Amino acid sequence: MSSGQVRRAAVIGSGAMGHGITELLAMNGYAVFMVDINDEILQNAKEKIKWSLGKFVEKRRIRQEDADATLARIGTTTSYEQAGKDVDIAIEAAPENINLKRTIFAKLDQSTPNHAILASNTSTLSVTEMGKATKRPDKVAGMHFFNPPHAMALVEVIKGEGTSQETINALVDLSKKLGKTPIIVRKDVRGFIVNRILGATFLEAFWAFKRGEASKEGIDASVKYTGGFPMGWFELADFSGLDIVYDVGKILYETYGDRFKPCSELIDSLVKEHKLGQKTGEGFYDWTKGRPRIPFNLLEEYDVDRSWAVAVNEAAWLISDEAAIPEDIDTGMKLGTYWPEGPCEHADRAGLDVMASKLKDLYAKYNMEMYKPCPLLEEYVSKGWTGKKAGRGFYK
Ligand SMILES: NC(=O)c1ccc[n+]([C@@H]2O[C@H](COP(=O)([O-])OP(=O)(O)OC[C@H]3O[C@@H](n4cnc5c(N)ncnc54)[C@H](O)[C@@H]3O)[C@@H](O)[C@H]2O)c1
Repeated sequence: MSSGQVRRAAVIGSGAMGHGITELLAMNGYAVFMVDINDEILQNAKEKIKWSLGKFVEKRRIRQEDADATLARIGTTTSYEQAGKDVDIAIEAAPENINLKRTIFAKLDQSTPNHAILASNTSTLSVTEMGKATKRPDKVAGMHFFNPPHAMALVEVIKGEGTSQETINALVDLSKKLGKTPIIVRKDVRGFIVNRILGATFLEAFWAFKRGEASKEGIDASVKYTGGFPMGWFELADFSGLDIVYDVGKILYETYGDRFKPCSELIDSLVKEHKLGQKTGEGFYDWTKGRPRIPFNLLEEYDVDRSWAVAVNEAAWLISDEAAIPEDIDTGMKLGTYWPEGPCEHADRAGLDVMASKLKDLYAKYNMEMYKPCPLLEEYVSKGWTGKKAGRGFYK
């Protein structure tokens, strides 16, 4: 099925992401049924959409009649049968739990027409597993929106083992119709692209702090003011939610082993004490008075090239796993997290040899897997593909 044939959609789960995805679809002319476990949750979600549309009207981005028409395109129900009856696509945004998601996909397989695509907004779980819960794995894929869906430009489209190219093409098209930039995760790897590279970067900073090499304020000041990133790593971890950072970190460790060795002492106690960052008012920083102040004078405390080195290394792993191409990796990091440059572009500019030797120095000093250069990176350097200066690096 092509995306041109998508007219009606169901969104499963009306929480932070589900109501945002529903709003985005409805604003772009699609009729949407939003499904949740009870009517009260659904009414709350619809109120949130109404409030958000009101803001768009206030800012003169849309007219009142567009807001009214958008709301009129949204139905709510607790019944999968009612929601699924005529849909061309269902997008699942229920809690991040594989058993729950498998059950939901089995139900969607029963309640939607045979031609319908079933997509999951999962941040880390296996799309292949969800496909196996259905009789149409070729029509099951990941469609990972970023938060909030109406504002963030990126969508990761994830190919499960059974997903057909036709399904991927339809989701790429649909993402574009929604005004988004899709990148393709060509293999169902954990962490996909953005969370995997961000996970590596967070860990380097957490370990540097834990080893007493720099303060968290010093790391964040260096990352922001010297590196040109929009937030420091501790600030961003707090902003994303330390429970989510913990969960994603756990899955990355289970999948890739010691390359993602968690800095448990740092995160576990905060999560146990329910200090989850911005949303609970405290995490690495105190958020009760707004965004933490990152002192400018500490901007040289941490060597930002260390962040780049592990990010470039993880990009090389993604390429050698045949899960992503450099263009998609760079687009993902720039649109998904507002990095000033993608890791592959950065390596090409700074020199792949420089990145590899930074990693080797760190590996010699700390003997941690996360610093061990990916064989693909070493291969490129040994072939003389050191980046722009050589005419070839990750890019030609
Ligand atoms: N929050 C984020 O920043 C973010 C970003 C990208 C992706 N995601 C992913 O999106 C998904 C949803 O995350 P969220 O933050 O919106 O969660 P959430 O907890 O805010 O919302 C989940 C919703 O699903 C509902 N639900 C639970 N069981 C259900 C069922 N059987 N049928 C229908 N609805 C059910 C819940 O009542 C709740 O309203 C997760 O897979 C998450 O990993 C989250």
